[in-house]
Formats: sequence, structure tokens, C-alpha cells
Amino acid sequence: MDDHISETIGRPDLVTLDDGLVCLRFETMKVVSALAAVRHLLRTGAVRPGDTLLDSSSGIYAYGLALACHRFGLRCHIVGSTTIDRTLRVQLAVLGATLEQMEPCADLKLDQSRRVRRVKEVLHANPGYHWMRQYHDSIHYLGYRAVADLIAKEVGPGDLTLVGGVGSGASTGALATFLREYSPTTALVGVQPFGSVTFGSEGVVDPEIIIAGIGSSIPFGNVDHSLYDTVHWTGFEAALAGSVDLLRRHAVFAGLSTGAAYLAARWEHARAPERQVVFVAADSGHRYVDSVFARHAEAPAVEDLAPLEVGALSELAMPWSRMEWRRGGAPPRAVHEGAG
Ligand SMILES: Cc1ncc(COP(=O)(O)O)c(C=O)c1O
Repeated sequence: MDDHISETIGRPDLVTLDDGLVCLRFETMKVVSALAAVRHLLRTGAVRPGDTLLDSSSGIYAYGLALACHRFGLRCHIVGSTTIDRTLRVQLAVLGATLEQMEPCADLKLDQSRRVRRVKEVLHANPGYHWMRQYHDSIHYLGYRAVADLIAKEVGPGDLTLVGGVGSGASTGALATFLREYSPTTALVGVQPFGSVTFGSEGVVDPEIIIAGIGSSIPFGNVDHSLYDTVHWTGFEAALAGSVDLLRRHAVFAGLSTGAAYLAARWEHARAPERQVVFVAADSGHRYVDSVFARHAEAPAVEDLAPLEVGALSELAMPWSRMEWRRGGAPPRAVHEGAG
């Protein structure tokens, strides 16, 4: 029996889709990370009940932090981007979290740097607030240990490949780190949108939209590039094809970053059928009804898509590219100074 709904929501399920292809399905992934991070801050005395936790978020981290604050009797203040929809806005209000939503802004880089600037202003005015720094503070890795334990227990013997979208880098980075304690042969495959600095695709513009929750226009301290064996970059349309196919073929209703991860996972599974491939489904499909699922008729068949294999970042091209990262370092524009 759970003590609080955040524990229930943060616990994923493992679903076998095909022989050797497994979906790690979360209702809202960031809940597991926020809960363990806040528990750690309370344990170490960095924050106390009644304190206010602050962060900037484009969506699901805000929800995770609000639930963790509700669970532990803390206050929550979010500087949110325009991607926070009405469903979340209303829930945050009822949960007692305060939200400042920034003006609409088509430029992701401007939106991210504006939010960071606003967080610093809020901290200046309220020095007692604790800034969670989900993109940089490694306490966001902690919650994934229990998830890695679950994967190790449920996914049978044999070599494992983990595939997941990279936003802050905490989920894929942590899961690979902890799974490699069980088996050092665990391979990690990161999935990115085009136009993101994290793995050096900023030179390729996706005319549709960036995939919510993955990629970045600024460097993140929580991304440890040396953990990744392979990287896939998918455009919006390829991710849409993955999301629609995942629902049609396997009845899993999940978001756009999941569609991209599923596409990459299918590819990796076909290349190395002897390995168990587990891909991360970070959120459900509800936020994507109009932008993705209502457009199912225009989704290309996943069998008709294949990544361009590239040997250097200068060769990246839409709609889908793949590169052996070989646990290499961060590209120059993704180096974060002073991760904490
Ligand atoms: C829908 C979705 N998928 C994937 C991710 C990536 O997770 P992480 O930040 O742990 O890299 C996020 C992060 O916000 C997300 O919202």
C-alpha cells in the first residue's frame, strides 16, 4: 500500500511488446525523480518542512515537484513555459503550487534563458527559497535506482540495451549507471530532437516543433555524455510515426518523446536481436491528442523509415540520423560550467 499518490504515479510498469522489446511505461516519469530528490534534501537538512522549493519547468517536472511538495509539506513555486497546459495549470493551483507562466515565445533558447533569469530574480527577492536545478543537480538521479532494480529483476538474463529521450539527462544517465552495476555490458542509446545543443544537432533545424521534454538550447550539467554508446536524432514527423505505430500496433498511448524512443528501440532491436531492448515511455499521450494522434492518417509507416548512419555531427540530416557516440565527451556547445 502506498502512503501517497506520488509513489503510485512514479512507479513504472514493464510491458513486453515483442520478443526482446520492452516498454518501461510511466504515467509521469519526473515524479519518481522529484520525490527522491526532495526526500534527500529533507534527510540531509538542506530544506525543512514549510520551506519553498523553486524551479523552472516546461511541464512534467513542475507536476512532479508539486506532488513531492504536497507529500512532504513544502511549498512549491514554478517558473513555467507556455507549454504548461490548462490541465496542469489547474492541478497546480489546487495542489497549492504557485505558477508564473512566461509569455508565449517561439524561440526555445530565448524562452529557456528568460526562465533562468526570472528564477534568479525570484531567488534574489526570496533568498530562503531552494532552487532545485533539475538540469544540473545530480540528486535527480537518485529516484531511478529503484527503477533500475525493477528492470534488472523483471527483464530476464542477457545483454540489455536501454533507449530513452535525453532532456535533463537524469533518467537515461541514472538508469544506465545503476543498470551497469548489475551488468557492465548494458548499452545506452540516447534520443534527441534536431536543433538541440546537447549532442550537437543545433545546426539542423526541424521546421515543425522541438519534441517536448527532450533536447535543449543551453548546456545541462546532468547530461553525462560519456555514458552514451549511440545517439539517434529524430524529427517531429518520425517521432509522430513512432507514437502512432506504438498505439496502433501495441495499444500503448504515450507521448512524442516515447514515439521517438520506440522508433530508435525498434531499430536497435532489429540490429541486435539477441539483446533485450528496453525503451522509456516518459508520459502518457493525453497532451498530444491534437498535435500528434489526430494526425494519425499522415503518419508514415515505421517500416519505411530508416536512420541515416553518420560518422560525424556535420553529416546529421532530417528526418532521422544515428551515430555511434562511443561514450565520447560533450560537444563544445554542450559543456556546462559549474554543474552542482
Ligand atoms: C516527455 C518527456 N520525455 C523525456 C524526458 C527526458 O527526461 P530527462 O530529463 O530525465 O532526460 C522528459 C523530461 O522532461 C519529458 O518531459
